[in-house]
Amino acid sequence: MAFVYLDNNATTPLHPRAREAMLPWLGERHGNPSSIHRFGQAARNAVEEAREQVALLLGARAAEVVFTASGTEANNAVLAHVTGGAGRPGHLLLSAVEHPSIREMALRLARLGWEVTRVSPGADGVVPADAMRAALRTDTRLVALMLANNELGTLQPVPEVAQACRARGIPLLCDAVQAVGKIPVDVDELGADYVTVGAHKFHGPLGAAALWVRAGVEISPYLVGGGQERRRRAGTENVAALAGFGAAAAAAMDELAHRTAYLAALRDRFEAALPQRAPGALVHCAGAPRLPNTSHIALPGVEGESLLIRLDVEGIAVSTGSACSSGTVEPSKTLLAMGLSRDEALSSLRVSFGMMNRAEEVDHALDVLAREVAELRRVAPVAEAAAR
Ligand SMILES: Cc1ncc(COP(=O)(O)O)c(C=O)c1O
Repeated sequence: MAFVYLDNNATTPLHPRAREAMLPWLGERHGNPSSIHRFGQAARNAVEEAREQVALLLGARAAEVVFTASGTEANNAVLAHVTGGAGRPGHLLLSAVEHPSIREMALRLARLGWEVTRVSPGADGVVPADAMRAALRTDTRLVALMLANNELGTLQPVPEVAQACRARGIPLLCDAVQAVGKIPVDVDELGADYVTVGAHKFHGPLGAAALWVRAGVEISPYLVGGGQERRRRAGTENVAALAGFGAAAAAAMDELAHRTAYLAALRDRFEAALPQRAPGALVHCAGAPRLPNTSHIALPGVEGESLLIRLDVEGIAVSTGSACSSGTVEPSKTLLAMGLSRDEALSSLRVSFGMMNRAEEVDHALDVLAREVAELRRVAPVAEAAAR
């Protein structure tokens, strides 16, 4: 078996239906959706069909969907809108496990005088709704709570927090980038005011994402220029990518029940065999509500980054949430926020399954993992000492 890709929370391979929808727009078809002539109108139709398909997947109306170039842009746009029009700095409330596209924006705003409260998850990787509710203030201008965490896969109590926000008239941003296409997501059930989605996490193309804005809720354009997206996001639409996004959404709609079961079966196969193959291995947040496709594991006595590199050499792609800065490996902020020690966080690994994975790949990955973990424990006395 040559290569096994188990990093589907980073990005996923393209669905054949997405590719098929994109190809004409990378070949014989072209046009600017803002042009009046037939070329432009054909491109416009493709974009609007995609909008309908994405809206359908979210239980939303097409007019509420604003296309963006990335989930990052969609998240940034909401923070910029809410804080830009605020006059003077106020209070932002976030979970401590938000994606960097929210966390880093909040850091920037903190430097401009905004007060930021970050609520940590429990040891189960779930941010308690009570703690979020208790942190709301009269000057809170925005609450951000993701639906599914990208590292742990844990699902967060968005509807409960949304209810409290609504009662106080505070807008809620829900980053649903990791959830959409893997589990059912309905914007009305979430109760948020803003929901962000990214195509490439569920077998759509890179460079296509959306911000859902509840009808009646304002969003000022983050990118200004032309009047695209009903003046909510300037810039000529990426027609090919949006056509692929729409088709990926339609495919997800058709396959959703099967996907959830299929991904959970791959994950469960992996997690059931893991303790025998890598003694001492633990699955983080195993008892919490979580995505069907994500296994976040701790391998005591093993440095996650070294293991990742060895697995890559052997053709297995996984991830750690660690970041490399100035030549040193920094542990994942999410794992630290959950209460793990630095050593525990650095010995962790994220394995995320996708619809193109097969059971044989899981078995092969376990064989390689078992071998490499044993080898690393033998040759890496420093990591072993850290684990004792
Ligand atoms: C939870 C979450 N939000 C936002 C993003 C950013 O999406 P994009 O890669 O489209 O910028 C990601 C991507 O990793 C994510 O996992």
